[in-house]
Amino acid sequence: MRILTGVKPTGRPHLGNYFGSIKPSLELSKGRESFLFIADLHALTTLKDGVVLREMVYDVAATWLALGLNPDEIVFYRQSDVPEISELNWILSCYTAQGLLERAHAYKAARDAGQEVNAGLYTYPVLMSADILMFRSTHVPVGQDQRQHLEIARDIAQRFNHYHGEVLVLPDPIINDNVAVIPGLDGRKMSKSYDNTIPIFDSAKAIKEKVFSIVTDSTPLEEPKNPDANVLFKMYQLLAGESDAADVRAKLEAGGYGWGHLKKAVHGVIMDGFADARARYDHLMANRGELDAIFAQGAVKARAEAARTLDDVKRAVGLL
Ligand code: TRP
Repeated sequence: MRILTGVKPTGRPHLGNYFGSIKPSLELSKGRESFLFIADLHALTTLKDGVVLREMVYDVAATWLALGLNPDEIVFYRQSDVPEISELNWILSCYTAQGLLERAHAYKAARDAGQEVNAGLYTYPVLMSADILMFRSTHVPVGQDQRQHLEIARDIAQRFNHYHGEVLVLPDPIINDNVAVIPGLDGRKMSKSYDNTIPIFDSAKAIKEKVFSIVTDSTPLEEPKNPDANVLFKMYQLLAGESDAADVRAKLEAGGYGWGHLKKAVHGVIMDGFADARARYDHLMANRGELDAIFAQGAVKARAEAARTLDDVKRAVGLL
């Protein structure tokens, strides 16, 4: 079993990412051979501001490292530091039926929404296949929205192997539908596209402002409250755990405990729960050289592995 996953650096990591992806991925990688990378080449399909991209890459890396990614145990690298991936991308594109890309949801959605469709967006699934097949990954943990991309990777690998024998390993997705889903500020799923997120390492003040912006009803302080009337209780429950949440539920239902109290509690539990991680995050963001060194170390390991697959592929197709 070899696990690999990629993270696109296109937004500040938020609590939804933490519960939905970062925490489960790190748990899954414990004691297993794992590869995790920052998909900066994929970000170029939509992001055209170099200053922002550079900042996002550091931000995402510092976040995962602060939250427990150990770069001595997980091969952790930046996609663009492994040029072999771009080379494999081209070779695989010659084994990709156009119809396969034509049916890709992400491209169709962008096209139908009248967004710019560049060739990179169109061939996004081929680069993603190169990411996955390059490292002979057997299991790829992703969100539901990436299921089709995994099917495309399998199709491409199958097509390649059809011509050349068992060179590429067919990956299986790991789609965990049981991950905790934290609601966003407006009650919908927390997501960058809804602009309702709480970035994990925003300043204490910014987090406070966001939590206090959550709309509540005007039940008077002394009256009993329905814990499920807004998102605050659900947030608290996920962050603080069941036993503290049961206490808060009882207080809300008894009356005399207001939404303002609960907002304070939610803010407090975010600040306390991530205090150590925040210190590590702040340190890394203030010492970019440490992040560069981690990327350099990851690139060496990833390239050694990539060179082997690329060699096999080139031999198979006749480039060597
Ligand atoms: N497309 C993925 C996303 O948007 C990111 C990604 C790029 C990825 N390459 C990958 C995920 C390889 C898993 C494996 O989330």
